[in-house]
Amino acid sequence: MPTTREVAPGPGSITRVGVVGAGRMGAGIAEVCARAHVDVLVWESTRDLAEAGRSRILSSLDRGVSSGKITRRERDQAALRLRFTTDLGDFVDRQLVIEAIVEDEAAKTAVFRELDRVVTDPEAVLASNTSSIPIMKLGSCTARPERVIGMHFFNPVPVLPLVELVSTLETGRSVRERAEAFAEQVLGKQVVHSADRSGAVVNALLVPYLLSAIRMAESGFATPEDIDKAMVLGCAHPMGPLSLADLVGLDTIKAIAESMYTEFREPLYAPPPLLLRMVEAGRLGEKSGHGFYRYDIPRATVRA
Ligand code: 3HC
Repeated sequence: MPTTREVAPGPGSITRVGVVGAGRMGAGIAEVCARAHVDVLVWESTRDLAEAGRSRILSSLDRGVSSGKITRRERDQAALRLRFTTDLGDFVDRQLVIEAIVEDEAAKTAVFRELDRVVTDPEAVLASNTSSIPIMKLGSCTARPERVIGMHFFNPVPVLPLVELVSTLETGRSVRERAEAFAEQVLGKQVVHSADRSGAVVNALLVPYLLSAIRMAESGFATPEDIDKAMVLGCAHPMGPLSLADLVGLDTIKAIAESMYTEFREPLYAPPPLLLRMVEAGRLGEKSGHGFYRYDIPRATVRA
């Protein structure tokens, strides 16, 4: 890969990361980066959303302190490594940017166009946490598709150890290696690789399962409680499919299903009418306080 630097940074040497979006996934990604001693700049569209993102991260760090996973000093140091902005232009010096905004192709392509304009480091890696939008669609909005890759984290990001790396036909090998080294050596995650297919590995398997559970509830075949209980007790899953759909967000599941249906035209990816109606009704799961179940308090924001 051509470089304008005299000494190209080696794998794992990323120390300045940008995270686009401070919803549940963006906040989780920013938190694990800050805990891994990385300088993190987080973008949100408004100051209120940036403030909500900061609170989300701080309460997760506090949870880490109260459960004994990190010390108060580590929490304070991680908090100091986090800065927030509403101007993507501030990402000029980032070595890795991870986009984690809403699962919307037009919004993501706009972000990648802007990142391509502002990020000056020719070695910078531009990554997307998208669940289902083909990475090539994002890479092709830039003049550097070889620097674009999927880095897909799992919710809750501080807990789940996997990162899926999704490489396109154009992604450079050095970019894949750099992203892998960062995920494994800096963040302490484990990596699997996937070709650039909507849903990659996990969602290609998980989403039809979640949609099947929604169809099962829709048909009255079994209650949501029994569907979840069956999978927790019968298959030792940590949570049932409808609780998991509420955790991920029903609007996000709908968006993922629609992308996968567009890609494969397989009926198993088509969002069932109950899912569509719930999203139209604003029943988005945990984040709105109501999905298949009710939750005490909607978060400060209802964004994904
Ligand atoms: N942040 C930090 N830590 C958290 C956390 C959070 N948001 N949520 C839970 N934890 C930690 C707790 O502190 C606890 O740690 P400890 O055992 O060291 O004390 C541990 O996780 C277990 O948490 P709880 O005791 O509160 O609750 P549970 O045992 O019920 O676990 C769960 C909660 C971790 C969410 C577990 O149910 C789980 O793993 N569920 C499956 C989640 C899953 O499948 N996620 C993938 C979704 S798909 C996806 O994200 C891809 C996207 O593209 C759709």
